[in-house]
Amino acid sequence: MSETTTTDLEPAGKLDRLFRRAIEVALDEQGDFDPVIRPAQNPEFGDYQCNAAMSLAKSRGLKPRELAERIIEAVEPGDFIQTMEVAGPGFINITIDPAALGEMLQEMSGPDLGVGTPGAGHVICVDLCGVNVAKQMHVGHLRSTIIGDAIARLHERTGWTVHRENHLGDWGLPIAMTMSSLRDSDTNTAALTLDDLNRAYRDAQLSGRSDRRGLEGAIANGCGPHRVIELQEQNAGADEVIGRAKQVLLALQSGDPVMVAEWNDLIQCTMNEVFDTLSMLNVRIGPEHNRGESFYSRRLPEVVEAFVDAGIGIEDDGAIVVRIEGQERPLLIRKSDGGFLYATTDLAAIRHRVVDLGSERVVYVVDARQRDHFRDVFAGARLIGWDRTGEGIRSDLHHLPFGSVLGADKKPLKTRSGDNFTLRALLEEAISRGVAEVAARAADEQAPTHGMDEAGLHAIGRAVGIAAVKYADLSSGVMKDYVFDLDRMIAFEGNTGPYMQYAHARICSILHRATEEGVEWDHAAPEIGTIEEKQLAIMLLRYPGTVRETTDQLEPHRLCTYLYELANAYSSFYQGCPVLKADRPEIVRSRLRLCELVKRTLEDGLELLGIEAPDRM
Ligand code: ARG
Repeated sequence: MSETTTTDLEPAGKLDRLFRRAIEVALDEQGDFDPVIRPAQNPEFGDYQCNAAMSLAKSRGLKPRELAERIIEAVEPGDFIQTMEVAGPGFINITIDPAALGEMLQEMSGPDLGVGTPGAGHVICVDLCGVNVAKQMHVGHLRSTIIGDAIARLHERTGWTVHRENHLGDWGLPIAMTMSSLRDSDTNTAALTLDDLNRAYRDAQLSGRSDRRGLEGAIANGCGPHRVIELQEQNAGADEVIGRAKQVLLALQSGDPVMVAEWNDLIQCTMNEVFDTLSMLNVRIGPEHNRGESFYSRRLPEVVEAFVDAGIGIEDDGAIVVRIEGQERPLLIRKSDGGFLYATTDLAAIRHRVVDLGSERVVYVVDARQRDHFRDVFAGARLIGWDRTGEGIRSDLHHLPFGSVLGADKKPLKTRSGDNFTLRALLEEAISRGVAEVAARAADEQAPTHGMDEAGLHAIGRAVGIAAVKYADLSSGVMKDYVFDLDRMIAFEGNTGPYMQYAHARICSILHRATEEGVEWDHAAPEIGTIEEKQLAIMLLRYPGTVRETTDQLEPHRLCTYLYELANAYSSFYQGCPVLKADRPEIVRSRLRLCELVKRTLEDGLELLGIEAPDRM
């Protein structure tokens, strides 16, 4: 994990350090006092304020304003701060020297925009996507994929070694049931279609569903004999179906070549569709990231054995369970019939990720409904010590639960017929909305896209549609449910993906015009004069810290909020400060330089969210 989130590039970070030291001197006390540096409420009074004097004075019986004065005196002299002033009950208003801001911007303008690589030498695993073989990808997988990809990109950007792990549901009884159902219908799996697969999955689910509770209830409630017999029959049928699926699973587990070939066909068929859909989403997830349940299947006996040998896995009525302190229900890792569970596989996966791969962080981007599962599995892993890397570093096992995608009725998103939306249908809809939006804008003769060919417009429209979906997902906070409302998501105003893209494209147009007019601004030093320039500079300098913080906290919405604020600061700057028509050529160049930095920052930030930034819109 990175040591600090604010960088010295950021004025707030620099002030924090200066004032931390000054407070010690002013109090004549050693201690790591938080100087409480905050952006100023009103830019007329300064750029930042230090709010620490009040509470520090109170607990020491000092006068806050006096202490504030002493702190000001103790601040190390330099040319970074222009003025400091005590205000109100003991705030210190701080104004930053504009020239210092210009220099800091110059420093930030390197290829990495000042972000650096605080994660270098550290390893992380991101458990993302997690689709199930033989089952349609749906909106539930959308979030795991989008959020997981963003988390992975952020860590890559800050220097971490990243393992993207797609923990496919590609093993066990559900798949065996689908395989068995395909055998019943004599389907040639070598020529399997997605429809075949979906049908087989549904059939298997229906015929395998037993209703024991219903039966007991029916008997207890004195339902007529018809209903009771009906349910009895259904249960017998279900037992039979499940029995045959178990045979298939056994054959598969023992490596029966025919079964293994059929199983591979199922995976191929599912993954073709999955990767096709993922390619619409512009995420970096490919077959090389597949590490599904099957990968761990052979390790499960030794996982249980390790728990038993350590005295942590205890026999309970033929099953093996792990007792977890403070919890009534133990963690089941082997059933009494010898079968293993979802949790057993996840324990094997943790061992692989932490002990074998050396991950100091394992982030599970999985539906909030699996919260208890991960709580228990993490507890089990800690008990046996699989939360420590080979070098003995304790890994941060982290479930990043996400909320549901809701329809306009605030219920989980469904089609009109009540089915789950397929991810593909959803994305196709978003893309066609994006294309329509871009085409409508291109009709305007002033638009930079006017006269562009259809393929070009389509590419931009596609990027806009996908940006709308991804940004809406990432900006609302991972934990929250959100309503899938394409009208709102695709709007070019407000905190949306298309707005961010549009802000970027508008700056591209200005830079383009400048180039056409023969203006050079390559090495121009940014000169900060107006309030808007200053606000924009301060905002830009927050970028590296924001990226680090977003990465550390696993909160992509922080980066979204930042980009939105940056776009707004740019807007105020653009309204208040003419760029190409500025009074002096140096100012034209300086402002172009600012424009370019904003453009690069927006582009970089969007890239970290997995969102494209077209030059024209
Ligand atoms: N396939 C699982 C599901 O759809 C998600 C996998 C999540 N990752 C994990 N390591 N358990 O529920």
